[in-house]
Amino acid sequence: MNCLDFLEFIKSEFGNLGSEEGLRYKYYEDEINGIVVCWKVSKKVLDFTVKNKFNLLIAHEDLYFPPEYAGGDKGGIVSDFRKEILEKNRINFLRLHYTIDKNFIFDVFDQLSGGKILIKENLYRVYEFENKKLENVAKELKKRYKVEFLRITEPNKKVKRVGCLVGGLGLSINSKFIDKILSYNVDTVIAGEVDEYTIRALSDLKIGIIEIGHEVSETPGLIKFTQYLKKKLPKIPIKYLKNTYPIKILK
Ligand SMILES: [Fe+2]
Ligand SMILES: [Fe+2]
Repeated sequence: MNCLDFLEFIKSEFGNLGSEEGLRYKYYEDEINGIVVCWKVSKKVLDFTVKNKFNLLIAHEDLYFPPEYAGGDKGGIVSDFRKEILEKNRINFLRLHYTIDKNFIFDVFDQLSGGKILIKENLYRVYEFENKKLENVAKELKKRYKVEFLRITEPNKKVKRVGCLVGGLGLSINSKFIDKILSYNVDTVIAGEVDEYTIRALSDLKIGIIEIGHEVSETPGLIKFTQYLKKKLPKIPIKYLKNTYPIKILK
């Protein structure tokens, strides 16, 4: 199976890909001898792929920095650094974003949120909680996702209606999505990643935020996708690789 066959397989399973998805690099007719699935390309992911002589990298997020949404697919210092490693080792790159969100990440996030699904309209999800203190909901999530820290606002707020902003949906680049979530009268959001635009906006309305981490929030769904691939393609070695999170909190 080569990358083009693999892409056909993905399309036959899940339908056509979105415009931000697809093969981005470059030796599409080489036979696949191993697949690494990751949330985002990193030095750790590239080193593993090279060391194990795998030649297809599937990432949920963009290969490039500056990313494609910032018009950066033509080059850049970090993009060039990554491309050089891919080229030197004849590694292919496939981005699967909406496809994995829609079929795996959101559903797994629903299950791990700790709430009951109240509204589910495409990717818009609202969960019901039993009037718990936000701080306590956050503590449970911290345990469930096994993270060292998470960021919250409004710790004493009572949580009843929670909007889902998994992954990067809490970033202000997705503010139209956030605005729609607000229209469901949520009192709190659980987010992967939020920026200060979003933090300030929600704070004006006293809507609580629990931010658990972009990669952290999407990892369980990505692992489920990887398990699915392994089952469907038992002859190809397939590995899910987590990144290490370089941030430390200095108090
Ligand atoms: Fe996502
Ligand atoms: Fe994401």
